[in-house]
Amino acid sequence: MKITFVKGDITEQDVDAIVNAANHTLLGGGGVDGAIHRRGGPEILAECQKLRKEKYPDGLPTGQAAATTAGRLKARWVIHTVGPTYAESKDKSQLLADCFRKSLQLAEELGAATVAFPAISTGVYRWPLDDAARIALETVRASDARVDEVRFVLFDQPAYEAFTALARSD
Ligand code: APR
Repeated sequence: MKITFVKGDITEQDVDAIVNAANHTLLGGGGVDGAIHRRGGPEILAECQKLRKEKYPDGLPTGQAAATTAGRLKARWVIHTVGPTYAESKDKSQLLADCFRKSLQLAEELGAATVAFPAISTGVYRWPLDDAARIALETVRASDARVDEVRFVLFDQPAYEAFTALARSD
């Protein structure tokens, strides 16, 4: 499994599956979620609503992953995952690791060879970048999912540096 880092917009990535930093409702939001729905079009939301109706009536639990079409995006699938919100008082690292682990498992099940991840939980959910990068890289490196490339798509310079500095230091 090749691990690569790109500074850019995840909705522009030409990969098989794009991972969305969703929320429990699966009905959209801001950040990555907003960009994916905006650029991907209504087909994505329609399939999210179907997932809610048929599989996740109470919402997608934190750390879980579910796939839909990618609509008008170059990708074939969007893998929606719900990151944990950051809390000083409670260590939710395992839930953040689950987002990467379960998204990769699902990517393999779908037959996706290339998967793009955003820096899950580091925006609205306020997870510190360095710690999120550590968890993301450790989890992806430990995964035995049969995926050819995992591409971390970082939206700004601080996120890009947090991930690439960590990758260089190992
Ligand atoms: N491409 C790549 N990365 C992006 C993009 C984009 N188009 N837009 C934002 N990001 C980055 C942010 O800069 C941040 O580093 O993705 C990371 C995750 O930020 P959020 O999208 O805010 O996701 P998260 O912190 O997991 O919070 C999820 O925010 O948008 C809502 O509906 C979403 O309620 C959910 C919550």
